[in-house]
Amino acid sequence: MQVLNAKKCQKIVVLGTGGTIAGTAASASDHTGYTAGQLSVQHLLDAVPALHDSLQGHDLVGEQLAQLDSKDMDHATWQALAQRCAHWLAQEEVDAVVITHGTDTLEETAWFLQKVLDTNKPVVMTCAMRPATALAPDGPQNLLDAMVVACDPLARGVLVVCAGQVHSARAVQKVHPYRLDAFSSGESGPRGFVEQGQVRWQGGADLSQVHAHARAALSVPVAQWPWVAVLHSHAGADARQIQALVAAGVKGLVMAGTGNGTVHETLASALLQAQAQGVVVRLVSRCAQGQIVGQTVFTAAPLGLNAVKARVSLLLDLLG
Ligand code: SIN
Repeated sequence: MQVLNAKKCQKIVVLGTGGTIAGTAASASDHTGYTAGQLSVQHLLDAVPALHDSLQGHDLVGEQLAQLDSKDMDHATWQALAQRCAHWLAQEEVDAVVITHGTDTLEETAWFLQKVLDTNKPVVMTCAMRPATALAPDGPQNLLDAMVVACDPLARGVLVVCAGQVHSARAVQKVHPYRLDAFSSGESGPRGFVEQGQVRWQGGADLSQVHAHARAALSVPVAQWPWVAVLHSHAGADARQIQALVAAGVKGLVMAGTGNGTVHETLASALLQAQAQGVVVRLVSRCAQGQIVGQTVFTAAPLGLNAVKARVSLLLDLLG
């Protein structure tokens, strides 16, 4: 941990967790054959020359929380990250936390933090699609934009900043494996845009605010967290995967159903059996947009969450 500016004033804390933003490749033209999570958060901060101009007098504190390719994100890192966020956000002199993170599971971490952190201060997550060694890396601009959002008085809750857009934890989803603007908020659209060092917010309501009711995740050892799995309903589906999961001790199942939450008949009967054995089932739609409307055989996940975020919510519900 290092304080970059000796002046005593409000702080922004930057937690590094790895990802492509901290990734390196052997060649500047290589955007795919790189290793994520190589450079320290301090290195990333030092690589943004205009950073201090965007800080509005804040001190900057960098802390390396993890150094992961986010495809390997685990519950222990989530818990440690949430604990450090809670620690810093509780300090009066800390106005915001910024998190550098890989893009692959960013939406899941964002939703997890939104659920477990009880704060009105902003937690701004950012990332990159190109490694830091690329000819034109996107990480430095994204980090700069994240600082702008972190300093904005209207910023609240967990937000994701990428490619000049600000997304809520609830709506954000990675929608492209390669493009620089890899994230979308689907039908709801982004919460705002970062333009020339300023945030232009869209609409008035802060959709990112969800009351925290999952604080058990900060203290219950991760080995005791319930096992919640995600399944898809699809042509030729086979009930044995559900039976195997139940036999192995799964506690919750998120079923990504077809269309308006319909489920292959083979899976539906296995799910009913699983429910009868105490497994909690939540339903989402496989469709990329919209959310389930009306009655369904199984309980629909709230808020039109996608499958991976519905898994986070169910896990936290079972923990609570
Ligand atoms: C990761 O998710 O850590 C690697 C991919 C990325 O950050 O774009």
